[in-house]
Amino acid sequence: MYDESHVIGASWVLQDISGLKKAEEDLTRARDELERRVQERTADLEASNRQKDRIVEELRRANEAKDEFLGLLSHELRTSMMLIYGGIKAVRRMSGRINEQEAVSLLEDVEQETDTVYRMIEDLLNLARLELGEQLTTEPVLVQHVIRRFARSFGESRPEREIVVDVSDELAAALAEPTYVEQVLRNLVSNVEKYAPPESPIELRAAMNGGAEIIISVLDRGPGIPEEERDAVFERFYRSSQIPKRVRGMGMGLTVCRRLVEAQRGRIWLAPREEGGLEVSFTLPVARDGSGN
Ligand SMILES: Nc1ncnc2c1ncn2[C@@H]1O[C@H](COP(=O)(O)OP(=O)(O)OP(=O)(O)O)[C@@H](O)[C@H]1O
Ligand SMILES: [Mg+2]
Repeated sequence: MYDESHVIGASWVLQDISGLKKAEEDLTRARDELERRVQERTADLEASNRQKDRIVEELRRANEAKDEFLGLLSHELRTSMMLIYGGIKAVRRMSGRINEQEAVSLLEDVEQETDTVYRMIEDLLNLARLELGEQLTTEPVLVQHVIRRFARSFGESRPEREIVVDVSDELAAALAEPTYVEQVLRNLVSNVEKYAPPESPIELRAAMNGGAEIIISVLDRGPGIPEEERDAVFERFYRSSQIPKRVRGMGMGLTVCRRLVEAQRGRIWLAPREEGGLEVSFTLPVARDGSGN
C-alpha cells in the first residue's frame, strides 16, 4: 500500500523526467539549428569561393586578351611605321635615281599606310571612350552629305578604285554622331579594299527603312563571309580563317563598327549578295525635328 509521501515522490520523479525530456528536446533543436546554420555558412562559403574562382578566371582571361591585344597592336604599328618610314626614306635618298611616277607610287603607299594607322588610332580611341562610358552627343545629321564627303576624299586618295554612291533623295536627317558614322564607313570600306578584288567596285547606299530609320550599306564583290562566321567576325580580334595570312589586320574594325552603331541606337549586320560578295548594313534612327547638317 502506498502512503502519501510515496505518491508525492513519484510525481516529483515524473516531473523530473518530463523536465529532462524537454531539456533533451531543446538540446536536439539547438543542435539541429546549429547544424543547419553551419551547413548554410558552408554553402555560402562554397558559393563565394566559386565566385572568387570565376572572377580570378575572368581576370586571367582578360589579362591574356590584353597581352594578345598589345602584342597585335605593337606588331601592326611597327609594320605600318616601317612602311611609312621606308617609303619616305626611299623617295628622299633615291630622288635623283627614280622617275616621278615611281616617286608618286611610293608616296601613295605611304599615304595609304598613314590612313591605316589613322583608322587604327581612331578605332582605339573610340573604343576606349565608349568603354569608359562617355556620353554620346548626337545631332541631326544628313547621312547623304557624310557619305558623299567620304566618297570624295576616298576618290582623291585612291583614284584607281571605283566607288559608286547610291543615296535616296528622300532621306530624312539621322540622329547620330557624324564622326562615328564616318568611322564606321572608313572601317567597312577598308575591309572591302583588303578583302575584295582591287578591280571590283565599292558601293555605298543609303535609303529610308519606313519612317523611323535609315539603312546605310557598304557592298562589295569579294569572297563574302561564310554563314557560320557572320556573328563571330563582330567579336574582338576575330579574323576569318578563309582570308590569306598576308592581309594585315587586328580583327577590331567590325567590333568597333558594332559598338559605334549601337551607341547611336542602331543595328549592324552582314548579308551575302546574290551574285557574290558581301553587304554590310547598319541603321540610324531618324531625328525627330527633321533638320540636319
Ligand atoms: N568585306 C569583307 N569581305 C570578306 N571578309 C570580310 C569583309 N569584312 C570583314 N571580313 C572578315 O571579317 C574579319 C573581321 O573584320 P574586321 O574589320 O573586324 O578586322 P580586320 O579587317 O581583320 O582588322 P582591322 O582591325 O584592321 O579592321 C576579317 O578578318 C575578315 O576575315
Ligand atoms: Mg577591318
